[in-house]
Amino acid sequence: MNLLVTGGAGFIGSNFILYWLKKYPQDKILNLDKLTYAGNLENLKSVENNPNYNFVKGDICNLSLVDSLIKKYNIDTIVHFAAESHVDRSILDPAPFIKTNIEGTYVLLEAALKNKIKRFHHISTDEVFGALPLNSKEKFNEKTAYNPRSPYSASKAASDHLVRAYYVTYGLPITISNCSNNYGPYQFPEKLIPLAITNIIEGKKVPIYGDGLYVRDWLYVEDHCKALDLILHKGKVGETYFIGGLTKDIPNIEVVRKILKIMGKDESYIEYVKDRPGHDRRYAIDWSKINRKLSWKPEVDFDTGLKLTIDWYLKNQDWWKKIKSGEYQKYYQKQYQK
Ligand code: NAD
Ligand code: TYD
Repeated sequence: MNLLVTGGAGFIGSNFILYWLKKYPQDKILNLDKLTYAGNLENLKSVENNPNYNFVKGDICNLSLVDSLIKKYNIDTIVHFAAESHVDRSILDPAPFIKTNIEGTYVLLEAALKNKIKRFHHISTDEVFGALPLNSKEKFNEKTAYNPRSPYSASKAASDHLVRAYYVTYGLPITISNCSNNYGPYQFPEKLIPLAITNIIEGKKVPIYGDGLYVRDWLYVEDHCKALDLILHKGKVGETYFIGGLTKDIPNIEVVRKILKIMGKDESYIEYVKDRPGHDRRYAIDWSKINRKLSWKPEVDFDTGLKLTIDWYLKNQDWWKKIKSGEYQKYYQKQYQK
């Protein structure tokens, strides 16, 4: 395969590139990434000299660039990760979310259609389905109606609709996956798990929004990459697959307690702070379709995944300390000045 990976310098994209080049050394990958605050080429140091890997710094909103790259690199498959991905930033400033997540996806679809791409895989989120009530058994599945409630999830929902529309209207061979909260190595430390781990290492408190009883489904990033591998090789064109983890309704406060316990720290590190506006109460994902159709299931249980992740952040302190001393500081000033 000749893959165009968008957003490959981000958290999941870089894990995907490392996974793919190891498993399929004969395939070629072109990584197109704008290198926003979230993009980091250090994630890809180990493959930068691989002759089957190329990187271009550029914007997915630039149609002539995308079109010329698809031609130049003879791309047959697009794996679309590039996005503005953090809910709190979308609340502070929705503009880049609308631009990249909606317009950027539209540009890629146009370029894919024009160049007769064999597969366009779109990475999306469970957040497009809104919030489930606490203490219910309800889960999102592939038939759940869209109900996004933040600028981030609304922009991702719009992108999902565009991708599906290009399949129905123009016959573009697409697949879509909606996954739950990923965690693992190389995640930018603005998201809950890496924020908690790195704050604890620095001796700082962990901010818990509201009552801390918000629930997310947690997916280890390598399990996500394996699911994408199956969808790209065996997934049915036009279909959507839900990808989730092995956690069962664990509230945020319990996630942080688990991290504290593994790191040998007490609860004095917990600090309750003002809630996120429009905070979705609960996400839960039914991944039985991908299990049935493609025999995928998550393999890494939450305790093991957390230990692996904590270990990675302990061993790679230079990676996140550099991040935390840059643009990050300004974001946190804005975030807590609201
Ligand atoms: P991330 O924020 O870590 O990385 C995003 C990457 O996209 C960065 O490298 C950034 O530089 C790049 N990018 C942003 N705008 C761009 C543009 N206009 N042109 C080119 N590149 C651009 O995100 P992530 O956590 O790796 O998420 C990847 C995808 O998975 C996103 O589409 C996100 O919506 C989706 N997703 C993420 C999670 C999660 O838990 N992280 C869960 C569900 C879905
Ligand atoms: P986050 O990692 O931002 O992912 P998402 O909003 O996409 O689910 O947040 C995960 C959960 O943790 C969410 O319920 C918000 C909460 N949270 C905190 O309580 N404190 C924090 O500092 C952050 C970043 C998130």
